[in-house]
Amino acid sequence: MTNSPVPAPAAPSGDVVIRTIAMPAVANANGDIFGGWLVSQMDLGGAILARSTALSRVTTVAIDALTFNNPVSVGDTISCYAQLIRIGRTSMRISVEAWVHHFLTNSEQRVTAGMFTYVAIDAAGKPHPVKR
Ligand SMILES: CC(C)(COP(=O)(O)OP(=O)(O)OC[C@H]1O[C@@H](n2cnc3c(N)ncnc32)[C@H](O)[C@@H]1OP(=O)(O)O)[C@@H](O)C(=O)NCCC(=O)NCCS
Repeated sequence: MTNSPVPAPAAPSGDVVIRTIAMPAVANANGDIFGGWLVSQMDLGGAILARSTALSRVTTVAIDALTFNNPVSVGDTISCYAQLIRIGRTSMRISVEAWVHHFLTNSEQRVTAGMFTYVAIDAAGKPHPVKR
């Protein structure tokens, strides 16, 4: 059995929840974009879908393993796509993909994808049912 990586899909799954430009302020020591910034964009994007699903505040309880397949350069357009995978009692599993658009070549590549879990919370920060 081989252990080769799963090839990135040709097109994104889900709806666009965030689109922004990677700015120099979030570059790492190599001059590429810092991975933590990208994860925060994905987390925000997933939260937008979770909030509109639960119609309440949400908080991130877990982020499953992420692999970065391609670097992001300063000036690239980043799009985050989110797709609701499962609704539990108080939690929502949401798949989030980050794609980069290289404007010079007009090409798109998936940079990373991961599974984010959000919990619907009440005003006191305690979990409450998604379907209330
Ligand atoms: C999220 C939080 C409100 C959950 O509170 P809790 O008392 O642990 O709640 P529960 O144990 O009832 O779990 C709530 C739901 O989260 C799910 N969950 C808990 N831990 C999980 C994990 N590691 N992975 C996936 N789902 C998880 C539970 O299965 C449950 O889902 P369900 O109701 O759909 O069955 C609480 O842990 C919290 O406030 N954490 C900090 C969140 C935060 O600050 N995030 C940002 C970090 S900077």
